[in-house]
Amino acid sequence: MEFQNAHILSAQQLNTEDIEKILRIAVELEPIAQKKLTSDLLRNKVLAALFYEPSTRTRLSFETAMNRLGGRVISVVGMDNSSLKKGETLSDTARVISSYADVIAMRHPDAGSLTEFSRGASVPLLNAGDGVNEHPTQALTDIFTIEKEQGRINGLTIAMVGDLKYGRTVHSLSYLLSRFSVKLIFVSPPELKMPDTVTAHLREKGVYFDETQNLEEAIRKSDVLYMTRIQKERFATEAEYRRHHGVYVLTKGLIERCNQHILILHPLPRYGEISSEIDELAGAAYFRQVENAVAVRMALLYLLLGDGDND
Ligand code: CP
Repeated sequence: MEFQNAHILSAQQLNTEDIEKILRIAVELEPIAQKKLTSDLLRNKVLAALFYEPSTRTRLSFETAMNRLGGRVISVVGMDNSSLKKGETLSDTARVISSYADVIAMRHPDAGSLTEFSRGASVPLLNAGDGVNEHPTQALTDIFTIEKEQGRINGLTIAMVGDLKYGRTVHSLSYLLSRFSVKLIFVSPPELKMPDTVTAHLREKGVYFDETQNLEEAIRKSDVLYMTRIQKERFATEAEYRRHHGVYVLTKGLIERCNQHILILHPLPRYGEISSEIDELAGAAYFRQVENAVAVRMALLYLLLGDGDND
């Protein structure tokens, strides 16, 4: 794709070449992300970080990425602190913010909200999570981490565990992985299975996937284990949430018994599904995954705003 001035709303937009380009630039920008070098690549550029739903990692890593590339950040945190609360449309909001900023990263609780917003946006827009739909920049961070930790993506078996129905990170990750030669194992309760839209896409792309409720078996068969949180905020009732919370809990004993070499990822925040005793294992990569997010988001900002398409 042509990155300069593009919107990135879905992982489905990115082909293998695009993904590899983003990962390659992320590697080049890593010394800046890791504070070993300084940069003014995006001097005089302004990022609008619009987070109408809670976030720690995504917002702050986008802001860190822009600041460390010499740019500036303006932000809105929470629906109550914006004129959306007064009934302004997403499209009008986009038109206004496009006149202040050079690029926008937005998170919103409603699936499809980014598409609506994009109709009024005249500067590049990055989906930082739209409800239960997608979270493409997280998924890019995830595959950057897999490649860094395992040295490859092709040939791996990757298990995704937990809330696959409402988990936007696993939707985007599945779309990205469909561009590679991988096997996927989806581990969830039947009520929280991967949506048909995602599995239909995988079938169309010829990607092997298996659906199971058996976590132990998945750990034995996989190279990478991608855990997710059962998201209380996505369920209609507390009772429905309680039925699923705690169904899959990763313990050190389970890993040692089933597969000591497995790479363990999680988009975070975690809420009980990974016991803290796991943190000391060599394969526990979820905090390294958090660090990687800055370089990946730097690469995206650079490609959309800079001359990254010319390299
Ligand atoms: N991984 C992720 O999206 O985390 P935040 O909700 O803290 O941004």
